[in-house]
Amino acid sequence: MANVLTQEMLDSIKKVEASRASRIGAELRRMTADEKQQVLNDFHPDYKSEGFSVLTVGPNKGEKVPCELADLLQGKSRILGVDIDLDNITYDVDVLIIGGGGAGASAAIESDNNGAKTMIVTKLRIGDANTMMAEGGIQAADKPNDSPVTHYLDALGGGHFYNKPELLKKLVMDAPGAIQWLNNLGVMFDKEEDGTMYTTHGGGTSRKRMHACADYSGAEIMRVLRDEVINRGIPVVDFTSVIELILDEDGQCAGAVLQNMETGEQMVARAKTVIIATGGAGRLHYQGFPTSNHYGATADGLVLGYRAGAKLLYADTIQYHPTGVAYPAQMLGALVTEKVRSMGAQLINVDGEAFMNPLETRDVTAASIIRECKQRGKGVPTPLGAAIWLDTPMIEMIHGAGTIEKKLPGMLRMYEKFGIDMRTTPILIYPTLHYQNGGLDVTDESVTNVPNLYVAGEAAGGVHGRNRLMGNSLLDVIVFGRNAGKYASAHSKGVKLGKLTLSHVDKFAKEMADAGIEPKVESPLLLPSYTHGNPKLADKYTWGHTEL
Ligand code: FUM
Repeated sequence: MANVLTQEMLDSIKKVEASRASRIGAELRRMTADEKQQVLNDFHPDYKSEGFSVLTVGPNKGEKVPCELADLLQGKSRILGVDIDLDNITYDVDVLIIGGGGAGASAAIESDNNGAKTMIVTKLRIGDANTMMAEGGIQAADKPNDSPVTHYLDALGGGHFYNKPELLKKLVMDAPGAIQWLNNLGVMFDKEEDGTMYTTHGGGTSRKRMHACADYSGAEIMRVLRDEVINRGIPVVDFTSVIELILDEDGQCAGAVLQNMETGEQMVARAKTVIIATGGAGRLHYQGFPTSNHYGATADGLVLGYRAGAKLLYADTIQYHPTGVAYPAQMLGALVTEKVRSMGAQLINVDGEAFMNPLETRDVTAASIIRECKQRGKGVPTPLGAAIWLDTPMIEMIHGAGTIEKKLPGMLRMYEKFGIDMRTTPILIYPTLHYQNGGLDVTDESVTNVPNLYVAGEAAGGVHGRNRLMGNSLLDVIVFGRNAGKYASAHSKGVKLGKLTLSHVDKFAKEMADAGIEPKVESPLLLPSYTHGNPKLADKYTWGHTEL
């Protein structure tokens, strides 16, 4: 087995094995508030000023966002200089949903329930989204020892008290109903023998409220939502991106310019309401980090909304999941679910020492791992940089043989492909770019400051404050996807649209020119470029080399 591991790794594994028995059952100390703040200040990527630029134009002028996002927000529109005939309307609907992930599909189902003429447009296929890749589970306080209030307090603390109260309230109050809705649609949640939901802890949760479908919770949820959309006959225009929002002469959102991803053909969709459900930004590889995100996660919704005048909230806060695959290189950045730590696997350095409690919140855990490698020199050398062990054999020792096969089958198979048996061999991890904590600012009816423009899921900001807890993202896409679908469809019934216009795009370009900004890229990005001709590629994935 383990022939892909280097001699240095094998030597370090001996130390991990030697300390294992004494670590089982040992209570690992929690960090104090001051210690947490210190490690965040010193090592979390959000605190590195060189990773950010200040916006010069638009609704968040003067605020900082990641440099790569700033380039896109202040990028060149794909329709500048192109003559789009806004009277030539290809699609005319009540509710246009941009994005075919969990939030988009949930929104479509509720909009359809409301009798609205609904359409999804997606640049890939329905289900090609971060929802599909979610592993660990979905939170809901539906056990007798738990309550939405406790869920609220956990998420508020995790979010460093920045969460928008009205959004967080909706998230936790609607959570038990969301689980029931999914269960009734056919999602096969893990259950106890008596049929009650099997729930576990996540980082920062004070109760066991994580509902899961083994370690492919998102894929199972997306399977069911996709089937529901298709069975209802809701139109899905796939392999078609949105390259600009359309407003009307009164400044209301009134549709979008679409572009066929293959032929480049551009089309006009008129819509009484539009829901942005485009997901996150992992494929922008902020600060050179690898990502756990889907190929399409390029922040398109933020660019579309921003150019149309919608405000961003907390766009400077990003989640680096503490446990991305660090080795073998073929899986670099792929998610190793937090469930692995919640089942008892500890984070261990090169000398076999458990250097922290593995269930601190994600930002603190990620920063502590970076510190262990960068400052303390206690990382395990790999060809891509220093990494930390996640001691997975502990799971079998704590819960019994066969637990990994049963609860983490996807991960077991993923590692087996590379000759690593995670039941007997620890695995190497390092933080990976996982989630956009912020996004477009919305009310509890999921609407932005631009009339008729709604946002749901990862593209919206505020629900999670400045750090999201595990399992609140799948919950977010269901609760707020449904919420946006419900409110956008109800609102569409009273909307009267005026003459369509794209003048906001010219206005934004003029503001940029007046501010002396030369766009560096065309945006929205639509797809990342990984070609070898890309000179930027060499700068990517450099996270570990310097500290070896
Ligand atoms: O670790 C995980 O399984 C990820 C879950 C999440 O981001 O909610």
